[in-house]
Amino acid sequence: MSKAPRFITLEGGDGSGKSTQIRRLAAELKKRKIDAIVTREPGGSPGAEDIRNLVLNGDPERWDSLTEALLMFAARANHVSHTIKPALMKRQWVICDRFTDSTYAYQGAGHGLARETIRRMEALVLGDFRPDLTLILDIPVEQGLARTSGRTKDMRFEAFDHDFHERMRQCYLTIARKDPMRCEVIDASQDEDAVAKAIWAAVKKRYKL
Ligand code: TYD
Repeated sequence: MSKAPRFITLEGGDGSGKSTQIRRLAAELKKRKIDAIVTREPGGSPGAEDIRNLVLNGDPERWDSLTEALLMFAARANHVSHTIKPALMKRQWVICDRFTDSTYAYQGAGHGLARETIRRMEALVLGDFRPDLTLILDIPVEQGLARTSGRTKDMRFEAFDHDFHERMRQCYLTIARKDPMRCEVIDASQDEDAVAKAIWAAVKKRYKL
């Protein structure tokens, strides 16, 4: 069994069931005595959580997409150096709710910031540090939105229209197509157990658990 620590990120739009699936994946790893931490973006370290509060609370109109992406990467720089890398050094696995692909999807495809601008920020902040595996929980936009309706969230990002979500979905699928070594697309339109099974199958296959 491979014991090398792994950095796994989960991505997906609204209603993809990401939070539940992260809990389930962490539980599967625990069952196999694999020491893993669960973290999130934006946030995941004290400094990055402060930036999260700044970005996600208050008047969303005060951020243009460039500023928002810079804040996401400022938070990410702190999160990587204070939480993710130290955990990997301690040989813990890291499961992270969202990472750079979210910036491509939200600030890029969603809000129109140029891909190249984000790529340059990524190179500056992360060098060649990337997740080992990114699970993209893919669900048709209408189905995802139907799942979240009724859930009231005090968040700025929930209120966007169908086109916005469709652009994000296509962005994630393009990322997965361009980087199949890192990414697995999971059909998140299935029921919760089936999604959990597909995720575990992907992790197991890669790491021979
Ligand atoms: P949260 O409620 O944690 O997200 P979700 O449950 O949707 O995963 O809110 C985080 C929000 O931040 C989410 O709407 C996506 C957004 N976000 C960006 O716009 N860019 C980014 O780079 C990241 C990491 C998140």
